[in-house]
Amino acid sequence: MIVRSLVRGSGSALPVRAVSNDELAALVDTTDAWITERTGIRNRYLAGEGETTASLAILAAQRALEAAGMEGASIDLIVLATTTPDQTFPATATIVQNAIGCRGGIAFDVAAVCSGFLYALATADAMLRTGGARRALVIGAETMSRLLDWEDRGTCVLFGDGAGAVVLEAGEVDETDPASPGIIASRLHADGAYNQLLYVDGGPSTTGTVGKLRMKGREVFRHAVVNLAAVLEEVLHAAGISPGDIDWVVPHQANLRILEATARKLGLAPEKLVVTVDRHANTSAASVPLAFDVAVRDGRIKPGDLVVFEAMGGGFTWGASLVRL
Ligand code: UT7
Repeated sequence: MIVRSLVRGSGSALPVRAVSNDELAALVDTTDAWITERTGIRNRYLAGEGETTASLAILAAQRALEAAGMEGASIDLIVLATTTPDQTFPATATIVQNAIGCRGGIAFDVAAVCSGFLYALATADAMLRTGGARRALVIGAETMSRLLDWEDRGTCVLFGDGAGAVVLEAGEVDETDPASPGIIASRLHADGAYNQLLYVDGGPSTTGTVGKLRMKGREVFRHAVVNLAAVLEEVLHAAGISPGDIDWVVPHQANLRILEATARKLGLAPEKLVVTVDRHANTSAASVPLAFDVAVRDGRIKPGDLVVFEAMGGGFTWGASLVRL
């Protein structure tokens, strides 16, 4: 028997205000046709007054706890991935901890931009497997709209706000049984040589301002397909699994063309992709847990399914995790 991190529940949250491509086209020099054809995005949710990364994270966490049938007080680890914290410090994870009635455990944020949830998941998994904690909330939450330059049509149409969360619990499983649940393998990477292809042009230690998101989209696109296919292959190889064994791929939702190209490169059937980019746009660290929760709640992802998560983002950072539910 070995200890694995078992997924006990998931939850997600979106801001109240949905914004269509046509609504954006009234503000920015763009069209619904361009956005839909180039990205697959049709809609995004944008945070309004009073809606913050923490408020969305708290809602997602509460829904995940409810799905798991657990009390907030029983959580002893919160790892929250965000690139848009409510404040530079304290960590947004501590705001969530306080709101869910949990005290004295571990709570911290992880910054790996769009790959943040994969980094947070692998970190929490390592701590659970080595006895550092028993029950974890892993959250991806973002208000990317607060970093957007609304005069840059090449970026402002691509992003949205939201949050997703999963509850993990350490449990003993029989590692010789391929049907045993839990996080089976994770792989993470970063290559800072590319950190000027997708970045924010400000920060507390440089300009003293929050800054705006800047991206060389075409170059990011090219690297995304190569890196994602490579890390997916790596995680499948580590677990001795072939693409045909996978029930669902829950990818980072940046661009429908990236999702489809990556699946094609690996020989993964397109109907196994969970796609929410049309509804949510790119919600950075929130996109994987948000898409996962959508597919769990609409009944596509079921207990026993073999699911792979993948993401790539600023840094560059990228990663993948293989999970049996
Ligand atoms: O989440 C982190 C990872 N991020 C990503 O994975 C994003 C990766 N990149 C992409 O998804 C795509 O590169 C974009 C969607 C950002 C852009 O698509 P593209 O096919 O690479 O277009 P492009 O940037 O090469 O621009 C093509 C044309 C340009 O016009 P010209 O120079 O050909 O006349 C742009 O000015 O499209 C123009 N354009 C737009 N037109 C209408 C750029 N943005 C817009 C827009 N509306 N919103």
